[in-house]
Amino acid sequence: MLVLGIETSCDETSAALVADGRTVLSNIIANQLELHRKYGGVVPEIAARRHTELIGYVINEALDAGGRTLRDVEAVAVTAKQGLVGSLLVGVAAAKTLSYMLRVPLIGVHHIEGHIFAGMLSNPELPLPHVCLTVSGGHTLLVHVRDYCKYELLGGTVDDAAGEAFDKIAKFFDLGFPGGPVIDRLATQGNRKAFHFPRPLLKAEANYFSFSGLKTAVINAFKSELASGETLPLADIAASFQEAVVDVLVTKAMRAAKQCGVSAISVTGGVSANRRLREVFSATCKREDASVYFPALSLCTDNAAMIAAAGQARLALGQADDMSLDVIPNVPLEVQHAG
Ligand code: KG4
Ligand code: ZN
Repeated sequence: MLVLGIETSCDETSAALVADGRTVLSNIIANQLELHRKYGGVVPEIAARRHTELIGYVINEALDAGGRTLRDVEAVAVTAKQGLVGSLLVGVAAAKTLSYMLRVPLIGVHHIEGHIFAGMLSNPELPLPHVCLTVSGGHTLLVHVRDYCKYELLGGTVDDAAGEAFDKIAKFFDLGFPGGPVIDRLATQGNRKAFHFPRPLLKAEANYFSFSGLKTAVINAFKSELASGETLPLADIAASFQEAVVDVLVTKAMRAAKQCGVSAISVTGGVSANRRLREVFSATCKREDASVYFPALSLCTDNAAMIAAAGQARLALGQADDMSLDVIPNVPLEVQHAG
């Protein structure tokens, strides 16, 4: 089955063709970074307008790159839940139009479910059940993936998401946007033991995260130096801050996996591209007889291939939407309660 995926929940306009939920024929991602950079973050109104300009183009590109035409599309999957309302609306309007025109099923997907499927799409050997840590600009979420589309929410952040902390720290030190990739690069030249920043909630048994306090601690430590124009050891700050985030993410995900009695961990979302996170996760899992799986870099950040894969799985379970499909900007992933 050939599924056309559409993702416009934030600032990436993406369309993809995925065959049988497994083979990515194309995955076109148009990002709008240049438009948002000068504001140091995504401006919802600008994002929605740009999606309207790009959506037709990325769908055509996805068809061309995949060597298919609209007539070959057998279902349309679109991110309908979790994201910026104006941005989501553009994708859902496009998906409904295509579904109606082509007379093929329409499937609305939760954005986080997409990230969970990015892990499975990249790693067909990833076992079920597993624990998935989704770390992005908007989320830090631990999910027990019991089976296809069957989830148990284990916990998440009580304030900032991990990616948000990277972005805010980078913005404060004027390093650029988005902050994650910049700090990732800069940290390779720094000493991660130069500063010891707090590891919020590290010891707490509950699967909750808090990154706001860490961000404030880092900012407060250097506020006066920055104001007095002193040269700051930015690479050391980046490396030490990143180490604190990585420490918390790895420790908590390993603990959650143990609680669930699983030995496989999938790490997804934009922050899963982070090199130090990958390194520490891999080393820790090797030591503790567990396995960690990361998506290919092209599937870490927002993309439509993961939405197509999730849509195909929902369709296989007999689930589809109709023309009443609406967007829901803020709603948790649907769960299946244990027992
Ligand atoms: O998944 P994503 O594209 O969008 C959301 O759903 O939020 O994630 C974007 C986030 C941004 O906060 C960005 O700074 C972060 O992922 N990010 C990274 C890296 N690449 C992207 N964070 C740390 N290290 C990276 N290499
Ligand atoms: Zn995302």
